[in-house]
Amino acid sequence: MDIHIVGLGNLGSAFLKGLKDLRANTDIYLYEDSKDVRQTIQENYSLTSKESLNVITEGVLILCIKPQNINDFFDTYKDKIARDVLICSPIAGLEIKTIEKYLENNVLRIMPNLLIGEKNGFIPFTSNYEGDYLNFIHNILKNLGTVKKVDESMFAIVTALSGSGPAWFYELSNQLVNAGTELGLSLKDSELIIKELVKALPLLIHEDETFKDLVNKVKSPGGTTEAGLNSLNDASFDTIILEAIQKATQRSTEISKELNNE
Ligand SMILES: NC(=O)c1ccc[n+]([C@@H]2O[C@H](COP(=O)([O-])OP(=O)(O)OC[C@H]3O[C@@H](n4cnc5c(N)ncnc54)[C@H](OP(=O)(O)O)[C@@H]3O)[C@@H](O)[C@H]2O)c1
Repeated sequence: MDIHIVGLGNLGSAFLKGLKDLRANTDIYLYEDSKDVRQTIQENYSLTSKESLNVITEGVLILCIKPQNINDFFDTYKDKIARDVLICSPIAGLEIKTIEKYLENNVLRIMPNLLIGEKNGFIPFTSNYEGDYLNFIHNILKNLGTVKKVDESMFAIVTALSGSGPAWFYELSNQLVNAGTELGLSLKDSELIIKELVKALPLLIHEDETFKDLVNKVKSPGGTTEAGLNSLNDASFDTIILEAIQKATQRSTEISKELNNE
């Protein structure tokens, strides 16, 4: 299968990292605007990226460019993309109906996160066709993480929770490091403590336990954890998180409207 990746920034390079040594029989073609990024890809993967697309006759086109670049992209390249090519879009906010204004192709909308580079992503998807066209989901995507069909109306919230998800945990970790330094630890020690913690946590997460269960395992009545959790509750931690996810969800919906010229 031919796989064309357009845009090799954060997500495009995560795709490349995850895909490059799959056993599946794939030929990967890369396209990237930025000369510096093309050079980095050459150095890291010994693969050459082109600046622009030629005619694409078959396979899958994975669009890893920013939402603001997508309308220009379709205006420039829509006549070079054959009808049989599967369009795979992880672009935040870009609805299938917007792509259908340019192309009649099968479209698979996904919202992965950067963990696909480690073959450990979560990949919600929806499509404008039945079944598994080109077996792309089964043969390719399933190798990069857990796939799950999701109604397109849920994509904004899924984007906020999962697509942006790593950032919530990085920011929480960042604030824990700051708290450590504020209270007297060196930055190096504080970073080390939180990094080791975050790296080890997945070992304790099991399918049959909720996060609430896990919290209860750490705290004991009158103990240190409970004191901290009470302070979080007093400061409306739940509301702070809810509002952040609401803002991210709203932004995704706004981007959809902007891209669809609504
Ligand atoms: N990053 C994530 O965690 C994540 C997660 C889920 C979904 N996404 C989606 O993935 C998309 C890419 O995000 P990103 O964070 O990877 O962005 P990024 O780091 O800015 O990468 C995009 C790259 O595409 C290049 N580019 C733009 N137009 C191009 C064109 N016509 N042909 C070839 N290359 C082109 C850009 O080059 P220039 O800078 O020179 O324009 C840039 O290097 C976004 O739509 C985002 O919503 C990202």
